[in-house]
Amino acid sequence: MQIIDGKKVAAAIKAEIRAEVESFVAAGRRAPQLVAIIAGNDGASQTYVAGKEKACGECGFRSQVLRFADSLTEAELLAAIALLNADEEVDGFIVQLPLPRHINEQRIIEAIDPKKDVDGFHPVNAGRMAIGLPAYVSATPAGVKELLRRYEIATAGKHCVVLGRSNIVGRPVANLLSQKDAPGDCTVTICHSRTRNIKDICRSADIIIAALGQPEFLTADMVAHGAVVIDVGTTRVPAADAKSGFRLKGDVKFDEVAAKCSYITPVPGGVGPMTIVSLMKNTLKAYKKEVYP
Ligand code: GUN
Repeated sequence: MQIIDGKKVAAAIKAEIRAEVESFVAAGRRAPQLVAIIAGNDGASQTYVAGKEKACGECGFRSQVLRFADSLTEAELLAAIALLNADEEVDGFIVQLPLPRHINEQRIIEAIDPKKDVDGFHPVNAGRMAIGLPAYVSATPAGVKELLRRYEIATAGKHCVVLGRSNIVGRPVANLLSQKDAPGDCTVTICHSRTRNIKDICRSADIIIAALGQPEFLTADMVAHGAVVIDVGTTRVPAADAKSGFRLKGDVKFDEVAAKCSYITPVPGGVGPMTIVSLMKNTLKAYKKEVYP
């Protein structure tokens, strides 16, 4: 069994990005710039945005965080987005989710210029990705694919079971791995809350991607010997002995499942660091105008 070290892969990719950025800057160009908008005080969102800022520094990017109070109106947020859409020195930006409840998230996502939508949440990017056109692919599915690529895990013809059908992870990762590509060319089954015989379906999988947000859902009896298990879960569970008061738990019961796997990602240190690095890669693509020339 091999543990997939997302932290190590992410560090290598950040170094690759930094080297490329330094060559642009040495040639007299400005550095890429990513902006994050955050509204309110959600603890997890603050942590994610701080992680993105730190990664920007490591990649040699400029970054800004625009912080708004919970009471921000939808009109104010739309006005901030319009400014970022028009700012030629901003290559990409993200609006951290969830937003305060009085704001219509979909309306906000659709106000972002698809060319700057480095989260890949705009329907134009989601749609282009779904039919295999160049697009910003959202960070977690892209990170999963990159881990499979860097560990040279065979995917063609394999049965890949995706647990969860969210727009951000389950659906796009299932789509990507079914596409004619490497990694890809999988036969994909999506399981969700209404699926029957989840255990039997999982036991027939060569690759399982767990993205349902239920801590320790996937147990050893659901996994075939030699399967590859990718854990996308990051639920915060209270932990009195942790400094922060919580601990991140994946969707996989790690110890018992690891004993049966060929490869497995830990939580933390597996998919998480890859998610942030995928956002950095999308920002570099935006700077280079690679997706929308
Ligand atoms: N909230 C949780 N994950 C994400 C993400 O990848 N992007 C944004 N914008 N918000 C999130």
